[in-house]
Amino acid sequence: MNVVIIGTGYVGLTTGVTLAYLGNEVTCIDVDKDKISMLNRGITPIYEPGLENMMKAAKARLNFATKYSECIINSDIIFFAVGTPPNEDGSPNLRYLYNAYFEILNYLKRKEKLTVLVNKSTVPVGTADELDSIIKDYGITNTQIVSNPEFLRQGRAMADTLYPDRIVVGGNCEAVECLRNLYKPIIEQSFTKPEDIKPPKERAQDVLFLAVDRRSAELAKYTANAFLSMKISFINEIANVCDKVGADVAKVAEIIGSDPRIGKEFLNAGIGYGGSCFPKDTRALQYIANTKGYSFKLLSSVIEVNNDQRLIIISKLKNVLTNLQGKKIAVMGLTFKPGTDDFREAPSIPIVQQLIEEGAEVWAHDPIAIEKAQKFLPKTVMLSDSIENIFINAEAAILLTEWRFYRELSWNELGKLMKNKILIDGRNSLDSRSLKQLGFEYWGIGRK
Ligand code: UDX
Repeated sequence: MNVVIIGTGYVGLTTGVTLAYLGNEVTCIDVDKDKISMLNRGITPIYEPGLENMMKAAKARLNFATKYSECIINSDIIFFAVGTPPNEDGSPNLRYLYNAYFEILNYLKRKEKLTVLVNKSTVPVGTADELDSIIKDYGITNTQIVSNPEFLRQGRAMADTLYPDRIVVGGNCEAVECLRNLYKPIIEQSFTKPEDIKPPKERAQDVLFLAVDRRSAELAKYTANAFLSMKISFINEIANVCDKVGADVAKVAEIIGSDPRIGKEFLNAGIGYGGSCFPKDTRALQYIANTKGYSFKLLSSVIEVNNDQRLIIISKLKNVLTNLQGKKIAVMGLTFKPGTDDFREAPSIPIVQQLIEEGAEVWAHDPIAIEKAQKFLPKTVMLSDSIENIFINAEAAILLTEWRFYRELSWNELGKLMKNKILIDGRNSLDSRSLKQLGFEYWGIGRK
């Protein structure tokens, strides 16, 4: 099929590359000239394991452009994968999506064959209906809009695209069947498996194809992210209770997680969730519910718990050091999760700001994103790509992102550099027992 993808962010690029890899003729369009020029040279603007190799394999069927052109006329399917960043009030900003639709209207008018328009961007419920009526007002009748939400994770985007649990398409029969056909190799898992992209260990044989109405598909994306955020905030509150009663949240999570009704995923307690989706989508769903006169109380608590959870690490530090004035604190890990250089809504940002407000001298390290950190952290933070540097004379160290790098450090040596061997593990990721044996005072989140 002839496919056009508008927007080459995480979602757009992985979708475009995958569809070309599966044998479709794909044109990816983005207004960002630098990005398109990089892509035309075979360089990916984001780091995703397996992406660049798949892009090479699909090269003959993959085009990148900055202008809407004849490819729209020839297309069977057009994907909209532009960003919907949050406005001040939490509502999603739909400007980029509407602009993209308006840009292609004139081309659509000239088309004779049916075009399926696919919303991959995360949008409020009813957006597809609204766009549908705008298109009809322009006298265009040969298009059908479907909602096809995306559930991929950063760092695992290619595996999540090739080996998803489910594909959700909301729309009417003809358009849904067109997408079922497009995704057939994934649904049947009949494509040549790229060697460097491993399927997840525990996945069902068949990929579920869920054909639903558009509004349910639109709401499902927000619901999935809100539910996962709720699991994290819930286990974080249990961790806080564990701290009060002397229980171990890891054990509690293991026990409840072995009940399939609960599931073991997303029960790692810590300093809260960040990233480009959970904070934005929880606020957006709260906003969407509010505009319809419904106050989503549980979701408001999920958001509030997450905001508070970030600063728990500061109170733990103050418990052991009394005050932070003039004290050197070593900060390990700055990105919102391991395996990415993304700083969007990273807990490290408010934590480091608070440390500085409390008068601490902050020395920070990240295995891959130290250069990028300069843009996001206050100027007074000492950023270093040497882990030893941040530990010299440190009064305490805190771990904010659970990079494997930190688990594999030579802790005995690092401990010798510190003023006090105090470690606060904001992700419960270090080996507490061996650290204690090395003489560290170790504090996790909700651990005995
Ligand atoms: C998420 C969703 O998983 C994905 O389905 C959706 O399409 C986009 O948002 P992503 O933002 O890439 O993906 O990150 P994810 O791995 O889900 O982690 C999100 C945040 O939750 C991270 O800050 C992570 O540290 C935190 N988290 C995750 C926890 O604190 N505890 C957990 O148990 C799991």
